[in-house]
Amino acid sequence: MNPLAVAQTRKRQVVSGESARPALLLAWYDRHRRRLPWRPLPGVAADPYAVWLSEIMLQQTGVKTVGPYFEKFLARWPDVEALGSASLDDVLRMWAGLGYYSRARNLHACAVAVRRDHGGVFPDTEEGLRALPGIGPYTASAIAAIAFGRRTMPVDGNIERVVSRLFAVDEPLPQAKPRIQHLAATLLAESRAGDSAQALMDLGSSICTPKKPACALCPLNEDCAARRRGDQETFPHKTLKKTGALRRGAAFVVTRGDELLVRTRVEKGLLGGMTEVPGSDWLAAQDDRAALQQAPDLKGVARWHRRVGVVTHVFTHFPLELVVYTARVSARVRAPAGMRWVPIATLRDEALPNVMRKVIAHGLGD
Ligand code: ADE
Repeated sequence: MNPLAVAQTRKRQVVSGESARPALLLAWYDRHRRRLPWRPLPGVAADPYAVWLSEIMLQQTGVKTVGPYFEKFLARWPDVEALGSASLDDVLRMWAGLGYYSRARNLHACAVAVRRDHGGVFPDTEEGLRALPGIGPYTASAIAAIAFGRRTMPVDGNIERVVSRLFAVDEPLPQAKPRIQHLAATLLAESRAGDSAQALMDLGSSICTPKKPACALCPLNEDCAARRRGDQETFPHKTLKKTGALRRGAAFVVTRGDELLVRTRVEKGLLGGMTEVPGSDWLAAQDDRAALQQAPDLKGVARWHRRVGVVTHVFTHFPLELVVYTARVSARVRAPAGMRWVPIATLRDEALPNVMRKVIAHGLGD
């Protein structure tokens, strides 16, 4: 580069505050950081177990929902040794309601592996962390930065939005991911990598929001390319995603006095190993009559009552619509093979996914 070009580049960097961004972010974070149950107070070292537990819970669930679950888990299993000695059933039961249950299985498998293969100490590199169950590239980067101060930037949805606006990344997601990852890493401070990452997360959730971002309050506002253009709300650009087709089915809420008929789903696949009421297949082409033919074979049921309305639930890959049939049977009726009666009062101890909570509430008329 000729000397004039070098000087011009340097001038642009100073004017745009490029090298000042990490420090501006940290200064903002020190004043405005969210107080979250898994975040130690400033200056206190993070506990890798608590960081890992929170990051697994936060993979597909929001901060507000995670808070009480995180505290419940930490109170019951205060370290990885304790969690690695727990039964999978107990972990699944405690996880019930958080969704995406493969996370709970991996959580347990990971705790067992750390206890058995690593002497109860988490590996402190991204590579070491990635070798553990349930830890992908994002989570490995988050744990390495937050728990061990490694200079790596985990890029989640919030950070993607902040970075795509700051640099006006026109390329749509997901193709833009490598570029956004590279640009995000330029916002890491020399030390305090975990705080740099959490500063961007907090900025994305409180100021650089999807709609109506509060740009006047942003520590990087003078430097934001999208703000200069006035089209910040359009970022990140996205290619349209196809969601799965609507699937339909029937669910059967059968009571025997104050007991409910349930069964356990097969271990593999969607909601593997969780508790459910009996139901039909969930199919795009399902019609109500075909679904009703899959009702459990209960000798005592004279007639199924169809509840008005439907229960809807959205899974990652498809939306689901369930019609709910109810029946009451007498005290003598036995559960069909593979099913069991459980007292309605103890349902909260079952590993019931959210979709089933909705079905049961609808069927029992709550
Ligand atoms: N989402 C994922 N990890 C997070 C963290 N450490 N703080 C806030 N939100 C998060």
